[in-house]
Amino acid sequence: MASKKKNIKSGASASRLNEKKNLYMGIDLGTNHTAISTSNGKKNSILSLVGIPKDAVATKFLKKERLYGEEALKHRVALNLFKPIESGVLKNQKEDIEAARGLLQHIIHSVGANGDGKKYAIIGVPAQASVLNKKIITELAKDFFDGVMVASEPFCVAYNLGQLEHSLVVDIGAGTTDLCRVHGTLPEPDDQISSNKAGDFIDRELVKLISDEYTNVRVSPEMSKRWKEQCAFVGEPDEEIIVDVPVDSSILKLSITREIREACESILPDIVDGISKLISTYDPDFQDALRSNIWLAGGGSQIKNLGTFLEKELEQIDGGRVRIDRDPVFGGADGALKLAMDMPAEFWRTT
Ligand SMILES: Nc1ncnc2c1ncn2[C@@H]1O[C@H](COP(=O)(O)OP(=O)(O)OP(=O)(O)O)[C@@H](O)[C@H]1O
Ligand SMILES: [Mg+2]
Repeated sequence: MASKKKNIKSGASASRLNEKKNLYMGIDLGTNHTAISTSNGKKNSILSLVGIPKDAVATKFLKKERLYGEEALKHRVALNLFKPIESGVLKNQKEDIEAARGLLQHIIHSVGANGDGKKYAIIGVPAQASVLNKKIITELAKDFFDGVMVASEPFCVAYNLGQLEHSLVVDIGAGTTDLCRVHGTLPEPDDQISSNKAGDFIDRELVKLISDEYTNVRVSPEMSKRWKEQCAFVGEPDEEIIVDVPVDSSILKLSITREIREACESILPDIVDGISKLISTYDPDFQDALRSNIWLAGGGSQIKNLGTFLEKELEQIDGGRVRIDRDPVFGGADGALKLAMDMPAEFWRTT
């Protein structure tokens, strides 16, 4: 995010460039998934994965030099896999930067956004991505756009929700949970808190808890992620969670209810601390407005009972109202798109 404060005028068609040929895009470049939303109504979301065939045989068999997203995951045994974003940050290695460039190009092509006409994009990145990281992303994206800016992901979510005044977004992704206070301008560093306890952390905790409880079981992070996506919850369980687990050479049905709950609850202390900190350091006149306008977003916002559980925890600091973004997949990309369309024409001329 640029350090200079800029006022955002919401819904301002007056501030859009007039030329019809311009295409605006919002892109959410995430650890787990990359989503795109365009001003001509196209959308796509893919896993943030790039695969390069391991050898000439694999290239011939797959008939491609590069595979992206779900297709790369499907053929992973024949590929060298790259996950260019880790813990919410674009990795610094040359191969990862190239992979990120390929991912961007692939998703832009996938929505047919590579035709004539000027293209302007806002790319959502984690709240506390370093200045260097933002610079690298801006530089590699410049090849594809006539104007590009990076913006904080949770701010994009708030923009999409139309919650630009006194709102607090908690974006629970794969690599990071980003908390962001929004008050009408682009957020400053003090408005944002990031924790690396998010979806990937839950997956690792779950593997650990199951391995501690049952000897001889072999649980991979992929299995753990799948079980979490099917059954994640916090608080009291509605039902017992039983899964098929490989034990030695057979499959056993094991209950993992307690383990799922503990793994999911392991990310909550950081979230509650972050919310309290952002409320207590806000202008006292507006603290009540902020506490009653908390939004959960990102894939992790789908954990069952999360909103109610957090509201209970917040009772210890005078309470809070927690709501959930209706679109955990495209919320960030849609917000980035709206922001791109609302930026004044002069802004794009200077990018
Ligand atoms: N139903 C679900 N319940 C709980 N967690 C889920 C569910 N569906 C997806 N997730 C988890 O949400 C996380 C992905 O969220 P999201 O797509 O918002 O991340 P991202 O934006 O790619 O990551 P980041 O913001 O950290 O860069 C993954 O850990 C995924 O397993
Ligand atoms: Mg995200």
